[in-house]
Amino acid sequence: MHSVSTLGYMVLGVSDLAAWEGFAVNVLGLQVGKRVAGESLGLRMDDYEQRILLLKSDIDDFLAAGWEFETDAQLDAFVAQVRARGVEVAEEGRAVAGQRRVTRLFVCVDDDGIRHEFYSTAYRANTRDTFHSSVLRGGFCTGRFGAGHFVTVPKQSARAKAFCEDILGLKLSDTIQGDAAPGLTVDVTFFHARAGRHHSLAIAEVPFPARKRIHHMMIECTDPNDVGLAYDRCKAAGVPILMELGHHPNDQMFSFYLISPSGFAIEFGAGGIVVNDDTWEIRRYTELSDWGHELNPPPDAPASNAH
Ligand SMILES: [Fe+2]
Repeated sequence: MHSVSTLGYMVLGVSDLAAWEGFAVNVLGLQVGKRVAGESLGLRMDDYEQRILLLKSDIDDFLAAGWEFETDAQLDAFVAQVRARGVEVAEEGRAVAGQRRVTRLFVCVDDDGIRHEFYSTAYRANTRDTFHSSVLRGGFCTGRFGAGHFVTVPKQSARAKAFCEDILGLKLSDTIQGDAAPGLTVDVTFFHARAGRHHSLAIAEVPFPARKRIHHMMIECTDPNDVGLAYDRCKAAGVPILMELGHHPNDQMFSFYLISPSGFAIEFGAGGIVVNDDTWEIRRYTELSDWGHELNPPPDAPASNAH
């Protein structure tokens, strides 16, 4: 079966581009890339011209996942396979491909309206224009492991999981059924792509109606100190913390969750593991976190963050 190699980029629809720019650069440590005034803002994490694309939109939600292939031949074989399974896949024109900073681009849309975009060649920045973060000590963990991960809250989780495995060709990493807070049990199923980041996409089942398509997206830095430094920057800038510093037992990620200007969360972490399919054993966990990740009340609750 042909499967995606890695999650190369993420596209977000945001209502306040200016707020996002300050947040992305000064809090997250991303670098501004290509800008179209009033329309879009590309953000860099490495030598790619763009890893996160912000599109001006009132949706304030996750718009698209950019799935990368190593070769054009792999991309073409994958698209043929998806079409053979009865899923409509369109080829985008030069305008959309250029906006994503890739050469050829194909797209299909899942049940929840998330676009899954497929490409093999992304534009790299000029070799003299190396990635530079104004706040990070280290860099971001990207390369063949891609931009990070995202966790959706689909309307029909069984169909969403089938899409991950049967259409994208992702493989099950593990599952967690645990309490995010007392009485708040969530069930999360984690999937990895061929490159092996523990998960590129996870499906969360939650006991309340979801406000957004995603619960969070994740970006990973190489130096664990940058997680603590980002946490301090959030506190200093008044960025709401959804979940405190903590550690996940499955992907071994040390992280915290902050609330983006669009209302969905961003996990900022370090230390995530890579899956080797030859030796990997799928496990079922009963705790979301082995320490920390304490859930804070929503920032607009009467007794706001008590810290
Ligand atoms: Fe995560």
